[in-house]
Amino acid sequence: MTDAATAERWERRIHLGAHPLLYPMIRGLGSLRPVVKLPGLGVLVSEAGLVREVLMDQLKFVKNGPSGSGALWTPVVGPKALVNMDGEDHKKLRQRLGDLFTPRSVAGIVEPAASAFESRITTELNAGRSVDVVECVKDLAGGVISKLLGVPDDAPGRLPNKELFNLGSSISSLVRLGRPSLTARQIAKGRSAVGILAGPARAAYRESDPGTFPGRLRELGMTEEEAMGIISAFVMVGTETLVSFLPRLVALLSDSGRIEELASDRSAVPATINEALRFTVPSPMMIRDAVAPGVIGGTEIRAGDRILLSTVHAAKSLRGFDPAEAMPPQARQLWFGAGAHFCIGMPLAMAEINAALDVLLDRYVQQPWTISSRRVSRGVLIPGYKSLEVANA
Ligand code: HEM
Repeated sequence: MTDAATAERWERRIHLGAHPLLYPMIRGLGSLRPVVKLPGLGVLVSEAGLVREVLMDQLKFVKNGPSGSGALWTPVVGPKALVNMDGEDHKKLRQRLGDLFTPRSVAGIVEPAASAFESRITTELNAGRSVDVVECVKDLAGGVISKLLGVPDDAPGRLPNKELFNLGSSISSLVRLGRPSLTARQIAKGRSAVGILAGPARAAYRESDPGTFPGRLRELGMTEEEAMGIISAFVMVGTETLVSFLPRLVALLSDSGRIEELASDRSAVPATINEALRFTVPSPMMIRDAVAPGVIGGTEIRAGDRILLSTVHAAKSLRGFDPAEAMPPQARQLWFGAGAHFCIGMPLAMAEINAALDVLLDRYVQQPWTISSRRVSRGVLIPGYKSLEVANA
């Protein structure tokens, strides 16, 4: 059966697999009131306009406070990794990175990994075998990491893309909601992964070739340490979200019976991807610390309050999955954040998403495929599929 209800059901299973207690609690509380104080946990904000309001107010709400996830990263990746910066320092660094992702530089980073993605899908399906979209997306994300690190394709001892992905993932998986700081062991584990990843990035930086990403950062005036911080940030926050989103996009389109139409008419692709991002919310929650007293939606906030921004409720509660409907203005791109910390990797993410979807739609035109089996991930921070196998229909 393929319909909207099936798509909704699988999405719910994905969220419950990751957060069996927290997800129903957050959605339930969000439906009750836009702002709820949760003793010991923080202030839960669940309405899109209010979430945006908090994100836009950098003076009252900071990312690098004691309870946000920003500070958690500092012992692992150093103090200059964007996600753990605020105010002027953060603004200056973002300004210097303004031209980082031009259409040309994004294409150069994504194309090799996208063509490997295509050849894997084609080879497996041509051979009559099923292929796991999750594994393919991990490879794609790993290929992008290798480009971000500036690893030459023919470097001796080059780690396979999957290994690069696993290293990135081992850093980001250190974060858990409710984990206020990392243990010495976790810090050591994270540092060792960063150390392995940073090796080739430092070499590329020192060679100063603007054709590589680290060389480009040097050209933009970054010191070696700044460049390593930025690269680490990209590797740890830019991989899990994509591995969460892309298979869910494929499943959502297949479950809701939209693949065939989309494969023959690509004009609806941008609106469909946008709506799928709203409906899946790959980064379901953002955290801030209040550093001054204030009011959110009529609720008084004290300095020191932890603010839990429930992007997942804010975006999902607006409606079911419907790419033909106009996006409500308060929700616009909220899944990529808003304000100072708005996702700097969005152009790269969109290029990866478009490239992978194109491959699967092109394949569908040649020979239709269908989802042959799937499993959701359990006990993870970012909800997603553990595997999503597709096979010739
Ligand atoms: C579908 C994919 C993605 C989603 C949904 C997503 C979502 C987000 C969100 C919500 C934020 C803001 C977090 C906050 O304000 O607390 C963010 C920030 C960020 N994202 Fe993404 N992201 C995605 C892909 C990527 C990719 C591919 C990269 C880079 C390779 C990336 C790099 C970053 C960085 C470095 C930041 C921190 C920016 C800052 O603090 O100034 N993201 N992302």
